Amino acid sequence: MQRVAVVTGGTRGIGEAISLALKDAGYKVAAVYGGDEAKAKAFTHQTGIPAYKIDVSDFKQVKDGIAKITAELGPVDIVVNNAGITRDGTMHKMTPEQWEAVIHTNLSSCFNTCRAVIDSMRERNFGRIVNIGSINGQAGQYGQVNYAAAKSGIHGFTKALAQEGAAKNITVNAIAPGYIDTDMVRAVPPQVLEKIVAKIPVGRLGQASEIARGVLFLVADEAGFITGSTLSINGGQHMY
Ligand code: CAA
Repeated sequence: MQRVAVVTGGTRGIGEAISLALKDAGYKVAAVYGGDEAKAKAFTHQTGIPAYKIDVSDFKQVKDGIAKITAELGPVDIVVNNAGITRDGTMHKMTPEQWEAVIHTNLSSCFNTCRAVIDSMRERNFGRIVNIGSINGQAGQYGQVNYAAAKSGIHGFTKALAQEGAAKNITVNAIAPGYIDTDMVRAVPPQVLEKIVAKIPVGRLGQASEIARGVLFLVADEAGFITGSTLSINGGQHMY
């Protein structure tokens, strides 16, 4: 049976690598994107993976979007909550808009997608949910109270939903990436990034494909005994 996977933020960065890895492994993939229309078109053209424009921070849009994906591809077996943004700034400069945008896009999105698929997963007695957290949700990061709070929230969300899903063969796990070579990390001021990379024992940024590998491991049918866990993929930068 070809399982259906939804990847949010699935046309760029880490999400793009996840969408591609899932497709190559034989899954039917729907890549959800928020705004970059041109990139999404190019992505579908290159990969054959359909892209769906859905604002993941909007409950109604997600509900309708998942219904559309279900009608076109079939019931959703796998959700990878990867969509995320940064609006970095120290507390004394951060606006309520920066706080809210990050909390809603990075954390409320997990509620929105999971709420939209959970009934169907429970009925079918199968589900694989992977939430992309962050090293900065585990350890905190200067200039990121919003992002660290949202990502840390993802780790709690994962453990709570894992307990609810267990009896229905719905596993819920998180991956906590470290600094990965994507547009998001390239936006960090170079002098700041240089200091961060100096603290990574492996001595380099990670690659998006190295996160995708972890996702493949966690969504497999055979991974039914792994739930509520966090897989840290960070080059040794934070061990706990
Ligand atoms: N620890 C302690 N002090 C720090 C610091 C740190 N990590 N970073 C900066 N400072 C200090 C600076 O040295 C500076 O001090 P002085 O005034 O004494 O020189 C002071 O704080 C102000 O720093 P900035 O000039 O950088 O302040 P700013 O307001 O212009 O910018 C900032 C602040 C936006 C937070 C900027 O430092 C920044 O962009 N930092 C990067 C944050 C980061 O790592 N984001 C991760 C994005 S990638 C991601 O999130 C993906 C993931 O999951 C890993």
